[in-house]
Amino acid sequence: MTTPHDVLLEVRNLQTVFETREGDVRAVDGVSFTLRRGEVVCLVGESGSGKTVTGFSIMGLVDVPGRVAADALSFDGLDLLTLSPEVFDGLRGRRIAMIFQEPMSALNPSMRVGEQIAEVIRIHERGVSQAQAMARAVALLERVGIREAARRARAWPHELSGGMRQRVMIAIACALSPDLIIADEPTTALDVTVQAQVLELLFSIQAETGSAVLFITHDLGVVAEIADRVIVMRQGRIVEEGPVEQIFAAPQADYTRALLAAVPNVDARRDPQRRLVGYS
Ligand SMILES: Nc1ncnc2c1ncn2[C@@H]1O[C@H](COP(=O)(O)OP(=O)(O)OP(=O)(O)O)[C@@H](O)[C@H]1O
Ligand SMILES: [Mg+2]
Repeated sequence: MTTPHDVLLEVRNLQTVFETREGDVRAVDGVSFTLRRGEVVCLVGESGSGKTVTGFSIMGLVDVPGRVAADALSFDGLDLLTLSPEVFDGLRGRRIAMIFQEPMSALNPSMRVGEQIAEVIRIHERGVSQAQAMARAVALLERVGIREAARRARAWPHELSGGMRQRVMIAIACALSPDLIIADEPTTALDVTVQAQVLELLFSIQAETGSAVLFITHDLGVVAEIADRVIVMRQGRIVEEGPVEQIFAAPQADYTRALLAAVPNVDARRDPQRRLVGYS
């Protein structure tokens, strides 16, 4: 049974519109869902269906010419639509973190990776010294499987491989054990074996921190492995939502059936232990 306390994120009738010269683009058009604490929910759907804009709307990252409106957009009881920019800044990175598809564009190219992790810690935790923050940054780099972490902490983003950069992004996102991680296709830029390693890492950290995850992906093989629940979007709307077993075993919408039909042997890849072994 779900109590109000279990609900971490409530999205009700989210409408995100971009005003363009050709008219309004209704990127998200009446989306409603809730996320419980610790839950892993996958958001799937074709390109342009509004997945990223949904994530950005929750994060408060939609810029002009975009407009976000909703009947409710609340995180742990806080109304995200009316939060002051200062309070929102205090939330972002600390309690809600986002991992983007392309780590190179999300990392600061002119800052050493260890410093970038340390900075996130220092912004949100007053009284932590530079040395303490850097020690935690190195420990986080170790946790995300980066060898010789003390030396690598001094690397610039361009000196690392794509997989290493995405590990750094995960270290930044998880640095303060956020309640919610929004991961937007975090592995699509990586090759398949590295994808599996990075996903396994993300979800082993998630198991430790208990963060809820909104995982945006095209890859239904990954969904089968990681999701508790699945939300299927098309053209800015939710066409189907349900527990992962139900979505795979008995999809209701034609669109979901078409998505599933495009993936070979997706059931065979589902591991009851929810571990990512065998994915690749
Ligand atoms: N800044 C913007 N201005 C105008 N339209 C936008 C803007 N950002 C997004 N859109 C439009 O909103 C719609 C939803 O885009 P979104 O990026 O959320 O899709 P997506 O589901 O994440 O797709 P993909 O799987 O390709 O990442 C698209 O039609 C897109 O063109
Ligand atoms: Mg997207």
